Amino acid sequence: MRFLSGHRPDYDLTYDDLFVVPNRSDVASRFDVDLATTDGTGTTVPLVVANMTAIAGKRMAETVARRGGLVVLPQDVPEAAAADTIAFVKSRNLVADTPVTLGPDDLMAHAQALIPKRAHGLLVVVDDDRRPVGLIPRTPPGGELDMFGQLRESMHPIPVLLPDSTDPRQVFDALTEANVEMAVLTDPDGRLTGVLTRVGALRAGIYRPNVDADGRLRVATAVGINGDVVSKARALVAAGTDLLVVDTAHGHQEKMLTALAAVADADLGVPIAAGNVVSAEGTRDLIDAGASIVKVGVGPGAMCTTRMMTGVGRPQFSAVAECAATARQLGAAVWADGGIRHPRDVALAVAAGAANVMVGSWFAGTYESPGDLHTDADGEYKVSFGMASKRAVAARSSADSAYDRARKSLFEEGISSSRIRIDPERPSVEDLIDHICAGVRSTATYTGARTLSELHEKVVLGVQSAAGFAEGRPLPGGW
Ligand code: XMP
Repeated sequence: MRFLSGHRPDYDLTYDDLFVVPNRSDVASRFDVDLATTDGTGTTVPLVVANMTAIAGKRMAETVARRGGLVVLPQDVPEAAAADTIAFVKSRNLVADTPVTLGPDDLMAHAQALIPKRAHGLLVVVDDDRRPVGLIPRTPPGGELDMFGQLRESMHPIPVLLPDSTDPRQVFDALTEANVEMAVLTDPDGRLTGVLTRVGALRAGIYRPNVDADGRLRVATAVGINGDVVSKARALVAAGTDLLVVDTAHGHQEKMLTALAAVADADLGVPIAAGNVVSAEGTRDLIDAGASIVKVGVGPGAMCTTRMMTGVGRPQFSAVAECAATARQLGAAVWADGGIRHPRDVALAVAAGAANVMVGSWFAGTYESPGDLHTDADGEYKVSFGMASKRAVAARSSADSAYDRARKSLFEEGISSSRIRIDPERPSVEDLIDHICAGVRSTATYTGARTLSELHEKVVLGVQSAAGFAEGRPLPGGW
């Protein structure tokens, strides 16, 4: 990474402050760019989903890992529930998506409540042996249905039913030929394996799933720094988690270093990420205590009020650049955590030296996030909240006395409820991953880079004014 002559200021910068200067490039196609990372997470795209309750659930975990990313399950999830989610993710098919299913005797109202959990907008009706027998589409807005009718009365025949060994390219061709969007795939006994849409078949040819040594999807889990952290970490590793994140808002504190060192000393056999910090000293101390990945970011998150409450934090690009340089010298890596709102932010975080980029709130507004789908006059949305908000603190301290709960709730540093819109153009996290990866691949071709490491090495950056940033925003409505 270097700055255009005369452009390196002596103050800290964030993503919006920067632009990438096109280099002379011999990378002709975006498909020549490999987005795989080298930090031991196995990610084949540089995306990690933040350990936030409103974002990182089982559905998000399978979908993102299938496209090569990694989801970190929040530390507030009870151990047994985390173990269930890990087992679910590990049992998923690497190509076929998991549909929502009901039996023929179930009611339409139940089906219509479940279908919005899937971007593909269909439910598969299965018999007692899990053999697919019909499809139920989502009711169009204003459409009338007998919500108390049984599914057997209104299910549609399955237009494309194929063995799960069918090559995704052939699935795509069969769907195109039949002019439908989704195939149902079955195992040799005719039982449901999953579904594949046309775009899912295309994605199967573009992305590589993030898999463990046994070929199962990977998933990570966070632990806090309070209580018996080692026992919790041990239980999560026994349940199959692929990576532990020792996480607290102020990662450069003694309690964190003690907890992290204890987890590292337990030698559990999985990589350990820890954070959050924003300085070289913080990075060094976390690596010394046993982290191989350092999570960088204090206050850039969409749900954070830390900077407004405390003045503490650091503009994210400079924080990532400094921490990444230190981590690199020590043979470790960093994740850029928070403040990602555009594909360009991911490209700039990688340019700064991040191995992976952590995304939270942006992915809350997708069908794969765990919350319920709501609709108002402006369209569909989900509700998200910060992990240091009154709402999250209340959930975390539910076992405390009423007095302690009330006392803790006075120290919130996050937003308790925010409506995150579902973008009608990109309602699924997979659409957002496509969007981000298209942007980062293109940044790499402009930079002359074939890998993310080359992007970091070769990138030339300039600093722009607010007007310069505004100039780059499209004007979809015209003048
Ligand atoms: P985005 O911008 O993707 O950022 O939502 C995700 C990161 O934000 C952090 N986070 C918080 N920070 N108060 C904070 O100060 C909060 O309530 C809060 N919740 C999440 C966290 O690092 C996450 O990964």
